[in-house]
Amino acid sequence: MPQDQSTAIIDLDVPGPRISRHVYGHFAEHLGRCIYDGFYVGEDADVPHVRGIRTDVVEALRALQIPNLRWPGGCFADDYHWRDGIGPRDQRPRMVNSHWGDVVEDNSFGTHEFMDLCELLGADAYISGNVGSGSVAEMSEWIEYLTRADDSPMAALRRENGRDEPWKVPFFGIGNEAWGCGGNLRVEQFASLARQYSTYVRNHGENTTYRIAAGASDADLHWTEVLMRSFDALDDPADADKPGDPFQAISLHYYTMTGPWQDKGSATEFSEDEWYLALQRAAFMERLLTRHGQVMDRYDPHRRIGLVVDEWGTWWNVEPGTNPGFLYQQNTLRDALVASVHFDAFHRHADRVVMTNIAQTVNVLQAMLLTDPETGALVRTPSYHVFAMNTPHHDADSLAVHLQGVPTRTTDGAELPLVSASASVSGDRAHVSLTNLDAEAERTIVLDLRGREVTGHEGRVLTAPELATHNSPDAPDAVAPVALESVRPHERGLEVTLPAHSYATVSLTLA
Ligand code: AHR
Repeated sequence: MPQDQSTAIIDLDVPGPRISRHVYGHFAEHLGRCIYDGFYVGEDADVPHVRGIRTDVVEALRALQIPNLRWPGGCFADDYHWRDGIGPRDQRPRMVNSHWGDVVEDNSFGTHEFMDLCELLGADAYISGNVGSGSVAEMSEWIEYLTRADDSPMAALRRENGRDEPWKVPFFGIGNEAWGCGGNLRVEQFASLARQYSTYVRNHGENTTYRIAAGASDADLHWTEVLMRSFDALDDPADADKPGDPFQAISLHYYTMTGPWQDKGSATEFSEDEWYLALQRAAFMERLLTRHGQVMDRYDPHRRIGLVVDEWGTWWNVEPGTNPGFLYQQNTLRDALVASVHFDAFHRHADRVVMTNIAQTVNVLQAMLLTDPETGALVRTPSYHVFAMNTPHHDADSLAVHLQGVPTRTTDGAELPLVSASASVSGDRAHVSLTNLDAEAERTIVLDLRGREVTGHEGRVLTAPELATHNSPDAPDAVAPVALESVRPHERGLEVTLPAHSYATVSLTLA
């Protein structure tokens, strides 16, 4: 095999676990310009909107087939009291958003506005409930308010506020980062609270809620272990198909950065070494999923409990001149490849990873969309395009990809493979994701396609002249996908040449 050539063997007729579309989930926190000035501009805004919600943001996210949206935090969730965000807007109490910029929150975007947003997006609601400073009764009443149809006290209050029909709330978070901003709790204490709070997040009428207990940070396996131990036995084969009880999933948070917490690295000014370091840190997600999954398997051999990575993505130093509490950062080709490497890991762990949420969707951290505070212009980031190129993976069956002949580079004391790949199949279509992490060299990959006849193919590629190329109002398509012309027939299937530092997809039509 030539040195610049690798092989990817894919058995197209051996489908694996299904990749839930919820792996492509999103996150919107009351943080900086994510909600206000991002999703929500208010009813008096000049920019086109529906009931204060930006039309272009909705259209861009609908194009991603956004499956779910997590709200209102994050750290903010454990300071949030939902009753402050209902009723006439001019009468809603104010509060201090002490985590994010110490700014005053006027609660003008609350429960009704969020559920309106979800309906406009066609996305499922993932409500993140307050354990840190809330109460069991408060959480119980919120789900009743949202989902109950009859004349119960909370359903009646919702009607008074203008909404007759209950909403569906398929996902509910029990706290957030309980080990930190969500209360600085010990896991033993939180495990008991998670059982208690989950009990009162009831299924009302036809609404069934999937409860997600706040999980570990990074490689904190102890947190996962204690939460898993808190379930009554999960290993009875007679219950193998039943969801867990009283909560159904635990979460995991992991952010990619190249420096220490105090100096995480610049989004746009980085060396080639930092390029590889970021991708090595992104590839660490694979290891985290394996290790947390092994702990979960010990208690839950039938995989009744889901793992929800409800915060992930790059976290860089804020853009110079912006509020340090607002977490506004640029988004380059490097961020796009961080995303594609994460998705490969999520696809490989589809049997355990039921949902993930990029942090965050608009104007915060690894955003899909950036809005210009002066002109209101909307920019799709390179990361947005990875999400767009991956929509065929939604609800498709994962396919194992066996890579051979992939070079590595020693980075951060470990070997980083310079090609990442994953694949899925749905009916007569298969979809292959290929990332060339090499900053400088192109790479040819033979797709050794077995088990089904391939009758057609189409490739797309996302790359840019520089590693730090990014989109802006002046150059909105500096990083945007184009047709990948370098897909050729090969005796074993197809041959693809990937440009240096690129992400590509190859869609196959199967007989
Ligand atoms: O996404 C930003 C913050 O990161 C979230 O509020 C918190 O949960 C995490 O620490």
